Amino acid sequence: MYDRQKALVLMEEHLKSEHLVKHSYAVEAVMAALAKKLDPDNVERWAFAGLVHDMDADLVDYKNDENHLHGPKAAEILKEENLGDEEIYHAIKAHNKATGVKVETAMDQALYAADPITGFITAITFVYPDKKINSVKAKSITKRMKETRFAAGADRDAMRSIEKLGISFPDFAALSLEAMKEIGEELGL
Ligand SMILES: [Fe+2]
Repeated sequence: MYDRQKALVLMEEHLKSEHLVKHSYAVEAVMAALAKKLDPDNVERWAFAGLVHDMDADLVDYKNDENHLHGPKAAEILKEENLGDEEIYHAIKAHNKATGVKVETAMDQALYAADPITGFITAITFVYPDKKINSVKAKSITKRMKETRFAAGADRDAMRSIEKLGISFPDFAALSLEAMKEIGEELGL
């Protein structure tokens, strides 16, 4: 059900952009780190939700076509392959506000916040002269949050909403940074 190898094969089939594949690994890592804190019996499931959450992002133009919302199709693809479960499908749908599916469970909330912070940390990494994630300090993530023009596409409110799970934003930033550092090579950072 949470077969990572099978998911990777599916991703190869559906996710063509390299940046989306790397983004998926990053969200997987952050979700695993959050689960260790919040739901330690389900680390594998949370990580899996992170890995597969953008499975349909290359398939549908969710920005321009309201009939092809990003999220539900990913759930469909996974279900067909007998991968994931209902809670994972819900989290995948809820991570795209446009679906109208509400953020309800802890997993929903975690994915909703983990999705934008990975891109945000990547953008911060690129500011450093060596463009290496190991050079990034957790403090600069918190600092950049206030610079609204920096990585403007990264939804500040979504990232900050992690506080609803009882994790402060600085703690979330540090945890996400550490999780991404661990797979820095895979992320090309
Ligand atoms: Fe994403």
